[in-house]
Amino acid sequence: MTGIAPTITLRNGAEIPALGLGTYSLNGDDGAAVISAAIKAGYRLLDTAENYRNEDAVGAGLADSGVPRSELFVTTKFNREWHSVDGARRAFHASIAKLGVDYVDLLLIHWPNPDQDQYVDAVRGLKALLDDGLLRAIGTSNFKPAHLRRVIDETGIVPDVNQIQLSPYHPRTEDRAFAVDHGIVIESWSPIGGSGDDLRSEPVITELAEAKGKTPAQVILRWHHQLGLVSIPRSSSPDRAKQNLAIFDFELTDDEVVAIAALDRHGAGLSDSDTQGH
Ligand SMILES: NC(=O)c1ccc[n+]([C@@H]2O[C@H](COP(=O)([O-])OP(=O)(O)OC[C@H]3O[C@@H](n4cnc5c(N)ncnc54)[C@H](OP(=O)(O)O)[C@@H]3O)[C@@H](O)[C@H]2O)c1
Repeated sequence: MTGIAPTITLRNGAEIPALGLGTYSLNGDDGAAVISAAIKAGYRLLDTAENYRNEDAVGAGLADSGVPRSELFVTTKFNREWHSVDGARRAFHASIAKLGVDYVDLLLIHWPNPDQDQYVDAVRGLKALLDDGLLRAIGTSNFKPAHLRRVIDETGIVPDVNQIQLSPYHPRTEDRAFAVDHGIVIESWSPIGGSGDDLRSEPVITELAEAKGKTPAQVILRWHHQLGLVSIPRSSSPDRAKQNLAIFDFELTDDEVVAIAALDRHGAGLSDSDTQGH
């Protein structure tokens, strides 16, 4: 029995599941079937984006699962062209139409795009949607502490969540400290290292997996959980998706958490959101 992930309370009061399903590349009928199966297996948090062009498949998966909307936590994100107060609202309406829902639990600004210099207004747009009861929580993605500091200084608005690339290769110590200081919950993208098997094959990971009778992915996901991070691993395999959710019945010691973080690649392979984004 996989069970359902525990939740973490966000600063605006919403309860976010501690682990969810990443849905990048889960498109069409096949994607919808994977998403529906994952929800039936216990997933409650789904992470999609305008940019993945799969909000329709996520919506079909939600509907097919039979799980009531109120028990699900749906996250989506919008692109740079919507970085304004009105734009955030238009992006929201486009997303809910594709998802087939009437509210979104968490709406994220996908990338800060500082070259465009409009992310502060995009955050104002999120807050207006939150105040109108159309969102349960608001957030950013790929924001560095400097971007978040500017948002907070100029608007007084503190996002509930910042979703960033974070794994043992990229432990993002300064970003985590900033988040803790401001009551922001971090969501880790590419939490188990993405498509390549490098991270999951690291000896410190495989040895711990062996010792605990768990898989490498489970050890890595447990590491995120013990750091207070929400992770959103993706799998196109129902069995691996189930496996990824089954991390709430074992523990890493503090020393093991530190040993895993020593895989830090000090920025090599990290996306730079000052120059990348859409
Ligand atoms: N905000 C952003 O800018 C941003 C950027 C990137 C990603 N994301 C979000 O984060 C989610 C997760 O990131 P990601 O998809 O890049 O990477 P990930 O979840 O770290 O890794 C996915 C890869 O791991 C494999 N995998 C999954 N479970 C496994 C297991 N138990 N054992 C072995 N291999 C396993 C998957 O293959 P199989 O499918 O074959 O299992 C897939 O190739 C995305 O889907 C998306 O929702 C957000």
